[in-house]
Amino acid sequence: MEDVSCFCHASCSEVPERATLRNTDYAFEMAISNIRYGEGVTKEIGMDLQNLGAKRVCLMTDRNLSQLPPVDAVLNSLTKSGINFQMYDNVWVEPTDQSFLDAIEFAKKGEFDAYVAVGGGSVIDTCKAANLYASSPSSDFLDYVNAPIGKGKAVTVPLKPLIAVPTTAGTGSETTGVAIFDFKELKVKTGIASRAIKPTLGIIDPLHTLSMPERIVANSGFDVLCHALESYTALPYKMRSPCPSNPINRPAYQGSNPISDVWALHALRIVAKYLKRAIRNPEDREARANMHLASAFAGIGFGNAGVHLCHGMSYPISGLVKTYKPKDYNVDHSLVPHGLSVVLTSPAVFAFTAQVHPERHLEAAEILGADIRTARIKDAGLILADTLRKFLFDLNVDDGLAAIGYSKADIPALVKGTLPQERVTKLSPRPQTEEDLSALFEASMKLY
Ligand SMILES: NC(=O)c1ccc[n+]([C@@H]2O[C@H](COP(=O)([O-])OP(=O)(O)OC[C@H]3O[C@@H](n4cnc5c(N)ncnc54)[C@H](O)[C@@H]3O)[C@@H](O)[C@H]2O)c1
Ligand SMILES: [Zn+2]
Repeated sequence: MEDVSCFCHASCSEVPERATLRNTDYAFEMAISNIRYGEGVTKEIGMDLQNLGAKRVCLMTDRNLSQLPPVDAVLNSLTKSGINFQMYDNVWVEPTDQSFLDAIEFAKKGEFDAYVAVGGGSVIDTCKAANLYASSPSSDFLDYVNAPIGKGKAVTVPLKPLIAVPTTAGTGSETTGVAIFDFKELKVKTGIASRAIKPTLGIIDPLHTLSMPERIVANSGFDVLCHALESYTALPYKMRSPCPSNPINRPAYQGSNPISDVWALHALRIVAKYLKRAIRNPEDREARANMHLASAFAGIGFGNAGVHLCHGMSYPISGLVKTYKPKDYNVDHSLVPHGLSVVLTSPAVFAFTAQVHPERHLEAAEILGADIRTARIKDAGLILADTLRKFLFDLNVDDGLAAIGYSKADIPALVKGTLPQERVTKLSPRPQTEEDLSALFEASMKLY
């Protein structure tokens, strides 16, 4: 790891005086949920709720999961501990503003004193939003939504405890203060980001990964891959501006920093070692368990450092979905799974960003299997892009945005949907123009 006394990264020559003029930040903060990990550890959740003194618990999940072993395990534990609960299984996969509002209404009516979310990012994020707005009943929905789409207000109300039980190895949502939804009116994804909404406890039970079908393992695993790569290559926190005048206004996504770096790199190493095995063999408990941990590790990293262009560009890719229906997703509506929407632009994005901090891009390529013994640093972006393409090809990933229904004619709309994502796009190490974004979408139409 680099010397932390350096102003940002080793290759940056920024001097403190100039930074003061630009009002850049000088500090970062790590916020992480408590985490408990263990095979079968879900059986403890009933006791956790007893220990919290919970009298009315809201259990959230989605319809598909409500028939599967992870929800069974939670129900058994709640019943055994005599917990009074109501179940909401109406979570929309890839949630929308309306599906958040439906869950919020359920939460407001229920007057719950604790929440349990059993599912992937869709369920955990919906539950975070339900807890927030039920705890702040007079707020407008847009009050807490990220600016410029919403007002981005700081959360000052106390929330109820939320226990998250992740069932995918992907979002790391059990560790983060982020909740993402598809804002239908704008056909673009956005979210709520505040340390206040992070779960009180994440219960990571690797047994829950065993029921995941192949494509859900793959797509959620690509999310881990991009969380790690983007947070490791993000703009360093000391180059992000403005510096908040009150720490409550320091964003959750602060830029790369020495602590997030450790988690991102470690997660990337696990992805390199285990993702293919986890996808190909549902019986490979070691691989699936390791990916479940990698998801949390990457979450700890990116939940504080942030992500950048793959995520910023993914929000319109998901939001503008036409008719794409992914294999293995047991839902009736069209959707582009989040992990797929981020990974399809990754070769183009890292070829573009590697101009800044190329050594980090090369390091990532090496972790993902590239032989860099004779590599030139100026080729770092191309080497990482090729490594990613090969990785995706080996895993039968759709051949670019064209394969999921987009054409050149969609590029202006895709760019337009990326522009309001400045919360993440401004964390790209290399600033980008609208023309750059167009070129990145175009380069992502076909991968192989
Ligand atoms: N909060 C964050 O920090 C964060 C980070 C990244 C992504 N997200 C958001 O999370 C959502 C994506 O979440 P996800 O990738 O975890 O998937 P998901 O929650 O959307 O679930 C995808 C599908 O997998 C099924 N599924 C989940 N676990 C299963 C299991 N163990 N066995 C069988 N089927 C299972 C679900 O029923 C669903 O049909 C997106 O909305 C994305 O924007 C949030
Ligand atoms: Zn993500």
